[in-house]
Amino acid sequence: MKYGEEHHLKVLFTREQIQARVAQLGEAITGDYRGAGELILVAVLRGSVYFAVDLSRRLEIPFVLDFMGISSYGGVSASHGIVRITKDLDSNIAHKNVLLLEDIVDTGLTLNYLRRNLQTRNPASLRICTFLDMPARRIVNIPVDYCGFTLPDLYVVGYGLDHHERYRNLEVVAALK
Ligand code: PRP
Repeated sequence: MKYGEEHHLKVLFTREQIQARVAQLGEAITGDYRGAGELILVAVLRGSVYFAVDLSRRLEIPFVLDFMGISSYGGVSASHGIVRITKDLDSNIAHKNVLLLEDIVDTGLTLNYLRRNLQTRNPASLRICTFLDMPARRIVNIPVDYCGFTLPDLYVVGYGLDHHERYRNLEVVAALK
């Protein structure tokens, strides 16, 4: 059986579309942060890793790549809003520019928690860059500064997004039916 054959996957964004959009984001971020001081990219584990790798390759400014691990309590969906830090940053972000990288903003609860947490560490600036945004599912208002693609309320996989840990490594984004 071919990978993914047991699920019906409808491709929403091709590899080429994704790479073109990521290049545009990289260009915009490079322009905005050039000469602006130290930049820390904070990728939120685990889904954003694929996006973080591709985006960071498109930046033409120096940066530090760091990771933050989070998990919802008891493995329940993060939509309960209770988030636990499983891996904290290695970097001190005080007085530095922080760009949070996410694969998707859904309810906004995860980023709402992370934003508040990181703000207490006194960064020079804190912005959010998400590969996908699903504004229709938002519970908490989150300022999204950079966004790859906006989507309606769909179950999507690929490019870091999983279904029971599968499909993260797809180079496309697909809706799972
Ligand atoms: C996803 C995504 C965000 C969060 C967004 O993570 O990577 O962190 O959910 O949802 P929210 O806006 O409703 O809070 P997930 O819990 O699936 O973990 P993963 O990245 O390890 O797959």
